[in-house]
Amino acid sequence: MNETRHRVLDALSDGPVSGPELAEELDISRSAVWKHVEALREAGFDIASDDAGYSLAAVPEFGGEAVEYGLDAPFEVEYHDSIPSTNARARDLAAAGAEDVVVLADEQTGGRGRLDREWSSPSGGVWLSILFRPDVPMAQAPAFTLAASVAAARAAREVGVDAGIKWPNDVLVESDGDERKLVGILTEMEGEADRASWIIVGIGVNANVDPEDLPAEANPTSLSAELGDPVDRRVFTQRLLELFEELRRDPETAVAEWREYATTLGKRVRVETPDGVVEGEAVAVEFPGGLVVDTGDERVTVSAGDCD
Ligand code: BTN
Repeated sequence: MNETRHRVLDALSDGPVSGPELAEELDISRSAVWKHVEALREAGFDIASDDAGYSLAAVPEFGGEAVEYGLDAPFEVEYHDSIPSTNARARDLAAAGAEDVVVLADEQTGGRGRLDREWSSPSGGVWLSILFRPDVPMAQAPAFTLAASVAAARAAREVGVDAGIKWPNDVLVESDGDERKLVGILTEMEGEADRASWIIVGIGVNANVDPEDLPAEANPTSLSAELGDPVDRRVFTQRLLELFEELRRDPETAVAEWREYATTLGKRVRVETPDGVVEGEAVAVEFPGGLVVDTGDERVTVSAGDCD
């Protein structure tokens, strides 16, 4: 959202304020004030106007400008009611040189998951991709995936859902030994070995969706199903982005914090890696994200794979 529009919103939230007062305060013309007010109304902001002037009556439930308004993180948010995949759109933006952009959608029609799976993304979710350009070697990228899972688990706990993380990045809700999937994360990157050019962290949160509308194989749950009520997706998305912002600045701490939410450590695991199956007890997670498995004979660190 541009700076002036943000200032218009700030003034309206303290409203009522008349058009001429606003024009003077922001040092813009009255017609520019009117254009900003109309653009905000089109974006779904409810701006009341009466004899005393304009005032902000309500912020939209969801959307790019709604999420950017009051967001304490330096991301521009590009919103789509429906898009094939936010990760695919973020890749196009990366190719065009963008950074610190979040692509956000209410619905994806071609959502992508790990290992080339489909990711079902009906309306009501929080489907987003964060494009950024950290100054790190490519090998450190897994730390950002772990950072995203910590941010998602923490944002879920803040709204009252007791989420944990299964290595590497499934955010789950456990009850009676049953693990139901709440969030999936798909990280993509490009660059040279010694420096990533860009990283895209795609986060899919089953927010206000009915788990019955999601494929049963994933044993899905959602925030609304856990809570019995829909969540405020705007506020949830803002918290998710703010938490990720803090953690991406300090990926080593993110990995340390990951251990606090881990459901995997101390359990017997079977990890299908590109080099074969590793079975044993999961004993640690090491920076930038490898799982240390004690097979009984040796300790093996696996850096990628599907974990059961
Ligand atoms: C998984 O397989 O667990 C990862 C799922 C990642 C889904 C998210 S939704 C937002 C972003 N856009 C995509 O197409 N995929 C990711």
